[in-house]
Amino acid sequence: RRPAGAPDRTLARGVTKVGIVGAGLMASQLALLFVRRLEVPVIMSDLDQDRVQKGLGYVTAEVDKLLGKGRLTTDQANRLKTLVSGTTDQSDFADCDFVLEAVFEQLDVKKQVFADLEKQVSPECVLATNTSSLSITEMAADLQHPERVVGFHFFNPVAVLPLLEVVRGERTDDATLATALAVAKNLRKNAVLVKDAPAFVVNRLLTRLMGEVIKAVDEGTPIKVADAALRPLGLPMSPFVLLQLVGPAVALHVAETLHAAFGSRFPVSENLRALVSARRAGIYDWTPGGKPYVSEETLSLLT
Ligand code: 3HC
Repeated sequence: RRPAGAPDRTLARGVTKVGIVGAGLMASQLALLFVRRLEVPVIMSDLDQDRVQKGLGYVTAEVDKLLGKGRLTTDQANRLKTLVSGTTDQSDFADCDFVLEAVFEQLDVKKQVFADLEKQVSPECVLATNTSSLSITEMAADLQHPERVVGFHFFNPVAVLPLLEVVRGERTDDATLATALAVAKNLRKNAVLVKDAPAFVVNRLLTRLMGEVIKAVDEGTPIKVADAALRPLGLPMSPFVLLQLVGPAVALHVAETLHAAFGSRFPVSENLRALVSARRAGIYDWTPGGKPYVSEETLSLLT
């Protein structure tokens, strides 16, 4: 029997070309995953050619790394490289049947991306969003076909973490959801179907934990001590290294969304805010005399 809310999987539509909107680090990791697992053409777009080239450069370099590790043959690597392309022109998405956006975490920006895409793609094309915390229902609200919008939320690092939150908005239809779940399976991700609630499930729990750790540091516990104190709990990664991996700006955005929804249960650290506004590259220990916490070496592994 089907679990509550799950669609009839026979409604899934085939996916023959994928569009990724954005060519930043998250979008590039997604382009690599899709091309590697689905082996269909994947096209990535961004606002200018420089960003597109940077995204494509990431994918090519990662394919070369996989080749170097013996995980791909030369033929496979060359094929993947020919399947990935970039553009600054969204009309190149016209023949996509699955488009995933991974642009700036702002509702208006994402709504505009979907509104523009609707002018290009067929009414059946799935519009998926990698949003960390925004409402899928609101993102779809003004579209002509809100039933084709679905949340498709990945976790960093995308290539390694198997979890994928699939989010059904109020108007998402069964064919869209079935297609999204079939794509998730082909990507070899463990899809969990979650409610369209602020920050869904994982980020809600993670932000609560991070909020408490950050508060301890705000109150004077050095970051190193906070990280070391949590090590015996067996977390796969120290909280502040994780904060660096996710990106302080993304973490702050999720915390702000949760604060707006649930109030004081999700405090927002002024120190984290200041760090993000100062656009510093790394996590800094903001206790008195604070120094860079994440070393250059660790940073280079994470970025
Ligand atoms: N990018 C790509 N691959 C990476 C990577 C990275 N940043 N970091 C590690 N890897 C790969 C390694 O290359 C290695 O692959 P291989 O086995 O094919 O050689 C594999 O991961 C395991 O790496 P290691 O053995 O060196 O390291 P660990 O055993 O310590 O595992 C980890 C690394 C999987 C990243 C682990 O530390 C971990 O699970 N950390 C927690 C990550 C997490 O919680 N992510 C969720 C963040 S929340 C989020 O993203 C949501 C967003 O909305 C905010």
